[in-house]
Amino acid sequence: MKKPAGEEKGRYCVLDDDTAFLEVARGQLSEALPGVAGLFTADPEVALTYARNDPRLLYVIDIRLGDKNGIDIYHDITRISPRARVIFITGDTGGIEYGRMREKALSRGGIDFIEKPIKWHELAIKMQNHLKLIEYQFDLEDRVEERTRMLIHADRLATVGTMVSSIVHEVNSPLTFIKANQETSLLAVQRIRTECGDPETRRLIDETILPGLTDSIQGVRQIEELLRSFRRFYKQEKTLTAIDLLSIIDDVKTLTIYNIRKQAITLNIVNRSREPLEVWGNKQELIQAVTNIVNNAIDAFEGTGVKPRRIEITLDRSDDNLVMTIANNGPKITQEIADNIFQPFLTTKSEEKGTGLGLAIVRQIMKGMGGDIVMRNKQDDRQLVEFVCTIPLYRDRKRSK
Ligand SMILES: Nc1ncnc2c1ncn2[C@@H]1O[C@H](COP(=O)(O)OP(=O)(O)OP(=O)(O)O)[C@@H](O)[C@H]1O
Ligand SMILES: [Mg+2]
Repeated sequence: MKKPAGEEKGRYCVLDDDTAFLEVARGQLSEALPGVAGLFTADPEVALTYARNDPRLLYVIDIRLGDKNGIDIYHDITRISPRARVIFITGDTGGIEYGRMREKALSRGGIDFIEKPIKWHELAIKMQNHLKLIEYQFDLEDRVEERTRMLIHADRLATVGTMVSSIVHEVNSPLTFIKANQETSLLAVQRIRTECGDPETRRLIDETILPGLTDSIQGVRQIEELLRSFRRFYKQEKTLTAIDLLSIIDDVKTLTIYNIRKQAITLNIVNRSREPLEVWGNKQELIQAVTNIVNNAIDAFEGTGVKPRRIEITLDRSDDNLVMTIANNGPKITQEIADNIFQPFLTTKSEEKGTGLGLAIVRQIMKGMGGDIVMRNKQDDRQLVEFVCTIPLYRDRKRSK
């Protein structure tokens, strides 16, 4: 659940049928809780409307509300807003009913019970503490919800992984004999060509059969490489190793090349470092992260008239970090999206195309490696959208053994 804008400070609602008291409450609490919006009302219906609009509201309710009872009103509020919190107040401190009423108020979910005359400063401190707790609880619940959805997504990925593994296996078997047959045919044709005296047959072999066979062998090799990348990507390994960034980029290239060509994009890879660039982490996760950023860059061109379309991956080092920049010359990312781009479920894509989890997972992977990722719109001689990943370089080679 995303927090509605402007709710960060928390709010409270004071409900009392004594309008003179409400005026004093307004003056005292506004001063003691500056910057926290307060709502003051003598009408229980209005308090219920507030409950409908804002689940984060903290209530301060007088138990005696004319012919109504504040404890019952709170009960109605929690039916609309189950996590609403309340501090009850009362002016009826004498009598034999007092003790029982206090007990009832607390057992019905009141977090506190305060007697009039109110010590405003003390009430304000209590309210502040409860507002913080409410924020904390909501934040925690939001995060649990997000994590749960991410786990479901990861689980779906794992299912896809199992499917891909069996497809890879099924495709691999015929591929092995196709390749063996092609190679035998190639040798046979080459032999026929040397032994054949007929110029017409030799021309046919040179111009049609041999180029055809060579192309087919090349095609099968490409399929094999693609299957290898799939296997590496979906292998359910959690092992950490030293990873060479150039090999990661090779895999990402194989996994994305179809869409890169389809969208007529030029993919350029620039390595500015003279030394090998190795980081420590899980290879599949890193492939997943870079593939996501590249896929996003490919998607960014869709429906635009941008020409020529370019994606550039630059590898460099800065101090003890690897700096990988993935840039594309697609349209600028608006400020609103840029501000939340790493938040889960932010997506501008159709439901079947994007979940909005990609970059949230990428950031988790980067953080897991001790690194981070930032996004920037760059405007010099050309417009660029850049995702910059900074990951600590792997130094201790002995650890990988
Ligand atoms: N290179 C980019 N250029 C323009 N917009 C981008 C770029 N990368 C990401 N975005 C924007 O950020 C949003 C979030 O990206 P993210 O990868 O998290 O999710 P997604 O691509 O929409 O879905 P998913 O990756 O889960 O399939 C995208 O929907 C898109 O609007
Ligand atoms: Mg994505």
